Amino acid sequence: MRKIHKAILPVAGLGTRFLPATKVIPKEMLPVVDKPLIQYALEEAVNADIKEFIFITRHDKGSIENHFHKAIELEKELSTSGKQHLLDSINILSSDNISIQSVIQEKPLGLGHAVLCAKEAIGDEYFAVILPDDLINDGNRGCLRQMINVYEQRHNSIIAVENISPDDTDKYGIVSIDAMDRSTGRILNIVEKPKPEEAPSTLAVVGRYILSPQIFTFLEQTEKGAGGEIQLTDAISMLLNHEQVLAYEFEGKRYDCGSKLGYLQANVEYGLKDPELNKEFSDYLSKLTGN
Ligand code: G1P
Repeated sequence: MRKIHKAILPVAGLGTRFLPATKVIPKEMLPVVDKPLIQYALEEAVNADIKEFIFITRHDKGSIENHFHKAIELEKELSTSGKQHLLDSINILSSDNISIQSVIQEKPLGLGHAVLCAKEAIGDEYFAVILPDDLINDGNRGCLRQMINVYEQRHNSIIAVENISPDDTDKYGIVSIDAMDRSTGRILNIVEKPKPEEAPSTLAVVGRYILSPQIFTFLEQTEKGAGGEIQLTDAISMLLNHEQVLAYEFEGKRYDCGSKLGYLQANVEYGLKDPELNKEFSDYLSKLTGN
């Protein structure tokens, strides 16, 4: 069985929910405390031994790639001033350790279309998809590492899921499953953003996928679906008729950094976990809330 070497990161979105902040700065470059969302995503993948990345991007979002280029002057400065931890924080994903290939998605036709844009770059192997808006903290190895552990045992496509409130089904892909063990189940049905009364369950797809290369065959046949977009969910629904696809309930907490509330929650909770900020920040919050 082949290992997972490559991850696709769809980053071509306009980020309209965060305007005006995202007029010039891509939403994937917004920081949680001091690190941009895209760096959390790549660090999680590197923890799972993935070092080849395919960014599905737009012409005007070059700063995402630039973030991973070497910064010679800055590195020299940090090195001579002995700021090793800062040096490490910018070097951890430098181009010496990882490779990044960018593919331009000419039109915003949807997540399924974005993934299809990476067909040639992926070739004939299983691969990961990471949606950087979904920030996941498991305090340990990372969600993708957990999923790859399952993949190494089961050799199937795997989609991360979590239980959500019944009122929120129309924000997610929703699956129904046949449970195999406490955290894993065989997907029976998957549907994109169903109304609560039509949802097959409350198990929602979260932005981490391990997919069989067969998915490209079905993405090529996928027509516009929910929201008028070419949906990855619809191609997975077709894949289900040919291959077993698993849902995996990951350990850890997900922050929806594609929404302002989720983004603020992530900043507060990561701020409270930050060793340098923890004490003063928690004192400040206690005073603010009167606790
Ligand atoms: C996408 C997927 C959806 C999934 C979600 C997870 O939706 O289409 O199935 O549940 O990501 O974040 P989006 O958030 O791009 O609308």
